[in-house]
Amino acid sequence: MATKASPKDTIRQLRDVIRHHEYRYYVLDDPEISDAEFDRLLRELKYLESKHPEWITPDSPTQRVGGKPAEGFAAVEHASPMLSLDNAYSEAELLDLDRRVREFSAEDATYVCELKIDGLSLSLVYEDGVLVRGVTRGDGTRGEDVTVNVKTIRSLPLRLLNDAAQNHGQIEVRGEVFLPLASFNAVNTEREENGEPRFANPRNAAAGTLRTLNPEVVASRKLDLFVYQCFADGQIPCERHSETLHWLKRAGFKVNPHWRQCASIDGVVAYCRAWGEQRDRLSYEIDGVVVKVDSIRLQQDMGATSKFPRWAVAYKFAARQATTQVKNILVQVGRTGALTPVAELEPVELAGSTISRATLHNEDEIRRLGLKILDWVLIEKGGDVIPKVVKVLESRREPDAQDFVMPGRCPVCDSQVYRPQGEAVWRCENASCPAKLKESLLHFSARKAMKIEGLGEALVDQLVDRGLVKDPADLYQLSLDTLVQLERMGKKSSENLLDQIKESKSNDLSRVIFGLGIRHVGERTAQILAQHFGSIDALSQATQDALEGVFEVGPVVAESIYRFFLQPENLALVEKLRAADVNLSAKAAARRSSELHGKQFVLTGKLPTLSREQATALIERHGGRVTASVSQKTDFVLAGGEAGSKLDRARSLGTVVIDEAEFLKMVQ
Ligand code: IVH
Repeated sequence: MATKASPKDTIRQLRDVIRHHEYRYYVLDDPEISDAEFDRLLRELKYLESKHPEWITPDSPTQRVGGKPAEGFAAVEHASPMLSLDNAYSEAELLDLDRRVREFSAEDATYVCELKIDGLSLSLVYEDGVLVRGVTRGDGTRGEDVTVNVKTIRSLPLRLLNDAAQNHGQIEVRGEVFLPLASFNAVNTEREENGEPRFANPRNAAAGTLRTLNPEVVASRKLDLFVYQCFADGQIPCERHSETLHWLKRAGFKVNPHWRQCASIDGVVAYCRAWGEQRDRLSYEIDGVVVKVDSIRLQQDMGATSKFPRWAVAYKFAARQATTQVKNILVQVGRTGALTPVAELEPVELAGSTISRATLHNEDEIRRLGLKILDWVLIEKGGDVIPKVVKVLESRREPDAQDFVMPGRCPVCDSQVYRPQGEAVWRCENASCPAKLKESLLHFSARKAMKIEGLGEALVDQLVDRGLVKDPADLYQLSLDTLVQLERMGKKSSENLLDQIKESKSNDLSRVIFGLGIRHVGERTAQILAQHFGSIDALSQATQDALEGVFEVGPVVAESIYRFFLQPENLALVEKLRAADVNLSAKAAARRSSELHGKQFVLTGKLPTLSREQATALIERHGGRVTASVSQKTDFVLAGGEAGSKLDRARSLGTVVIDEAEFLKMVQ
């Protein structure tokens, strides 16, 4: 029989397993287990720690979101100044660097090129392998202690992974915190919906986030970090910068994968050119390339000025701005009914593409810019962020330039529009505005939601404009006769679409939840909710407290879900989906799990594989309870080897006795 691990050992092992999977998921982007399995491990650890709070350590994966700092962030002095980099704006300036390098060393002019991440630099201090402090750059000498916020970055190891790292006393790692473009866009959408000002760019958003006093909010923003420097007790532990990058990766950090070692400055120039052209392909913003001398010895020989190291340079890309004229201002209506003004531009080349539209976000933004129709403007593009108008060139104002007036009615359905108090956005009041409906249908059928491929924009336009579909559930009533009459719909494509629609009925519950388009409920939250509640009914009846009690669901998300299911039309939609035979409950595991609801268990003896804590966690997770002694109320006695008096009592009371194998069947 396997010996039972002590709870302390179980906790330690569980943490190691979770750290490994965090690394696979957040650093390598190559998970080995499903999200649900990962969540299960994390919940198990949380549960065990709640039973043994005395064993919680600051480097436990459960400690990423901690308490709020009461009085802002403390000032901390850096062990060595955090220098900045001298800029190079041309290839000629890269050759200047090479010339300086050769003055120091005739033979070793090997360089490392890295992407220059457009974020904020951060210093991380580890003691005996455990993260103790995260400090912003500040003025280079003193920064702010933002440890509580830095810990929420999931790709950041709270404990170093390689053994070498743990042998050192103090290790300092420096890198760049940034907000991926997808997170930046999500944060701004949310801010706009809440009537808060938008962040101007991902860098500002990252800076604002890092200084937020509520770590829960920080965790929801999904900051990320690439590291590029390391000192062990003040020294650089490797002989080459390229080795440092490998070392950092082994220690569990996220190192930007695009770095390249170049044997000569020609390679550097080619690298800079290539990334200047393809930077739009990245999911985060870069503003240049950092070129560093590879040999640490040579770096030390070259030294630094008071501001910059002499062994590195930041090659900056050309600004991505252009000047053009605003021909008109249109208003678009989104899924939430938000009216967004969009500038129609005289087409202009910008960073490799032709731009003919730029978002103006909302009425206040137009006022802030002082923009009139026919004005000449400066537009800017960053990554896949939609181009935006950054400045009006007032000196070039046309005499017939006109003020923009926000329409008083929805440009799509002509209903009243309203501007909720404190918000910057006007919204269409009509719940069945075709514009909203079209967006909802596209969202419902999207690949990550109900996966009804073939339901593109053109088809959705026809279905809505002809009144054939009034909500997502109506998709399930479409017939072949109806579809073949639509433009560009042959018999074959109509049949394919109907097959897809039919197939979507048996989708996982999480896809339905995501497809409903509840504000703040993304794909991952939908999976968590499906797993936790097991059915749409349980979810729709959950109280706000119950929702907040779900791990990873914060108050904003909980309120949004709660409000969604208060709306009669949303409940009616659920009923229509049910009538259409769409699957509205989680498969097997969750359904079986509810069978333990309210069941009382007593544990006795040593189970072959599960520890007492693991068995308890499983029972509680599936809705059951564990009590200490056998009584009339006991439903099951889970018995292992060497079971004693409890087993005798169970037999005398006629209580059902099960072994571990039977128990596992009940919960798996
Ligand atoms: S090395 C002493 N590498 O750019 C050299 N910096 O303009 C320290 N940055 O303050 C910096 N990506 O915040 C380095 N791959 C990279 C970088 C990088 C972005 C930032 C960093 C630095 C600023 C200098």
